[in-house]
Amino acid sequence: MRLPRLAYNLLSAAGAAIALIVAITLLVLLVVSLLTGTTNPYLGIVLYMVLPVVLVFGLVLIPFGMYGRWRRERRLGLEEVAQWPRVDFNLPSHRNAAFIFLVGTIGFLVISAVGSYQAYHYTESNVFCGQACHRVMHPEFTAYQNSSHARVKCVDCHIGSGAGWYAKSKLSGVYQVYATLGNRYPRPIPTPIANLRPAQETCEQCHWPQRFFGAQQRQFNHYMYDEPSLHWPINMLIKTGGGDPKTGQTSGIHWHMNIGVRIEYVARDRRRQDIPWVRVTDRVTGRVTLYENAEKPLSPEELRNAEPRVMDCMDCHNRPSHNFHSPDHQIDLALLTRRIDRRLPYAKRVAVEAMARDFDSGEAAMQEIANFMTLFYREKHADLYATRRAAIDAAIVATQEAYGRSTFPVMKVKWSGYPDDIGHFIYPGCMRCHDAKHRSSEGFTLTRECNACHAILSQGSGERAQVATTQAGLEFEHPTDIGDAWRQVGCFDCHRGVQP
Ligand code: HEC
Ligand code: HEC
Ligand code: HEC
Ligand code: HEC
Ligand code: HEC
Ligand code: HEC
Repeated sequence: MRLPRLAYNLLSAAGAAIALIVAITLLVLLVVSLLTGTTNPYLGIVLYMVLPVVLVFGLVLIPFGMYGRWRRERRLGLEEVAQWPRVDFNLPSHRNAAFIFLVGTIGFLVISAVGSYQAYHYTESNVFCGQACHRVMHPEFTAYQNSSHARVKCVDCHIGSGAGWYAKSKLSGVYQVYATLGNRYPRPIPTPIANLRPAQETCEQCHWPQRFFGAQQRQFNHYMYDEPSLHWPINMLIKTGGGDPKTGQTSGIHWHMNIGVRIEYVARDRRRQDIPWVRVTDRVTGRVTLYENAEKPLSPEELRNAEPRVMDCMDCHNRPSHNFHSPDHQIDLALLTRRIDRRLPYAKRVAVEAMARDFDSGEAAMQEIANFMTLFYREKHADLYATRRAAIDAAIVATQEAYGRSTFPVMKVKWSGYPDDIGHFIYPGCMRCHDAKHRSSEGFTLTRECNACHAILSQGSGERAQVATTQAGLEFEHPTDIGDAWRQVGCFDCHRGVQP
């Protein structure tokens, strides 16, 4: 016999065969993937998750089979069986077994060292987060690729560095893989994420508040829903400010919100849209002020159960990389970049209406968007439909793409389910607190003063264009006549991401 007698049994043989086949497959795939640098998400799953488990399973079968045979022989009293195995290197079978074991172990260690290094990188990669988990994270992955963080890895925001969070995320990842395979995941994925790592440890690796300064100029490009789709740009200086008192001016949004003060708040709802209670602690003087929404304060019962949250970057920048933009915004962008020709009558209104409905699937959406827009121009503007076919078709494609970037029926994801907390145009955002209803017992109010956060440098176009001539900026002018409704209620009370 070339191997110890006990090794001759069906189970061990099967185990050895499995281990051998898997080891060879693994080795070949590993070499291929290292050499070609392929990043196929499913290859990764097979290579780093499935095959190693099968390999270990095969290896475990070998001693298991030997143990089985040993027990059987002892029970039947076939041969005299020792309590412990005797190792005798004078026997060729023992020498062979020891040799196989040694070579096998070294081989296994080498493969698993390379493999686990690769597996670590693989499970940290965007391919794994965004593509292998295809259906579930498809919305976030798509939006992410169109964001300013498209080159920042998912794990830099969602996990951060350090072994503790790595282990934590992999443990919860096991459940998520199970939920995905078992089709038990929620649709849509709920937001906000309950246990997101604090922003200090993720965002602040790249953007640290001491280095914020100045203001940011931004132009918001709107188009009206009228026949010529009038362009209505609003150019603003947003007073981000912030900074370090040692090196510069300290004022503005970041200073007040993050650096100068510590703010805690209690939200009534899961999405943190209804915030009746806000407590401010001045970091320098230590003074504490409590602001409550005078119209609907927290009841004593709610207050007892409340868990105040310390406000951080994510309470304003909650969609830095997965912003599911509204149809209104998407079509404004398509008009701005001339993907949709503004000379088509009602270009904006038709495109927004076409994509803002609910569809059963992405394919159905594409079809119905095309039908809707074609029908509109064919019935209402037949002459145009004959002469400007190319422009109409281009508008359809642009609308379909706008839809594909931001709406995902399979995961039930669309703009209205994922509020963006920066600004106050279609979601309350800043006005969750700055609605002039939050008062302190001393009579202070959280400001709703338009100039506290930004100054309008110019607004409107054509004959109605206005340009600021003073530093204070312009007073806001609403493009259509709504009286002074905008002073009384928020923009978001009328604007919901479609035609108001
Ligand atoms: C710039 C940082 C950043 C990057 C990069 C990033 N995320 Fe996010 N992600 C966030 C924030 C912030 C939230 C919202 C958390 C909250 O509101 O509590 C979020 C939420 C999510 C959610 C929960 C559902 C939702 O939309 O709110 C999923 C799923 C998700 N991200 C997946 C991904 C994937 C996959 C990638 C890589 C392709 C990625 N993220 C990259 C910051 C990031
Ligand atoms: C790995 C580095 C990295 C991390 C982590 C990171 N960012 Fe960024 N961020 C960037 C880069 C790079 C840009 C693009 C800068 C540019 O375009 O000038 C950017 C741009 C931004 C912008 C301005 C552009 C915009 O979309 O308005 C904001 C706001 C922002 N990040 C917020 C965040 C927040 C909030 C987090 C944490 C959830 C975060 N970042 C985490 C690297 C990072
Ligand atoms: C009170 C809300 C609020 C909080 C909290 C907040 N920001 Fe901002 N941040 C803004 C606004 C508003 C802008 C202006 C840009 C815009 O409108 O998109 C901005 C701009 C930025 C920018 C781009 C412009 C610049 O100055 O470089 C970055 C990067 C940024 N914030 C990162 C952060 C980080 C990191 C944190 C957490 C430490 C944070 N912000 C906390 C509201 C906030
Ligand atoms: C608490 C701070 C704050 C107050 C008060 C405030 N705003 Fe704003 N507003 C913002 C921020 C921040 C943005 C930028 C949002 C973004 O970057 O998307 C914004 C955006 C806007 C825009 C551009 C919106 C868009 O998407 O086109 C307009 C117009 C505007 N504000 C008008 C007003 C008017 C009018 C008032 C007074 C009734 C006001 N704001 C009060 C913070 C504020
Ligand atoms: C959770 C509630 C909350 C939200 C949401 C919030 N703020 Fe504030 N903000 C406060 C509080 C509280 C103060 C008062 C700080 C103090 O007393 O110093 C404040 C103060 C400010 C100030 C200084 C005002 C002044 O009188 O000088 C600015 C500017 C500001 N916030 C901008 C913003 C912007 C922009 C947003 C949205 C992107 C926003 N805030 C969202 C709670 C909030
Ligand atoms: C009382 C409701 C109401 C309020 C409040 C309101 N709007 Fe409007 N807004 C409208 C209506 C109605 C239209 C016209 C839509 C159309 O063309 O059919 C409109 C159109 C617009 C447009 C041009 C078309 C578009 O949708 O982009 C802009 C820009 C705009 N509003 C900005 C704002 C801003 C900024 C605020 C907050 C400061 C605001 N509105 C507050 C009702 C409102």
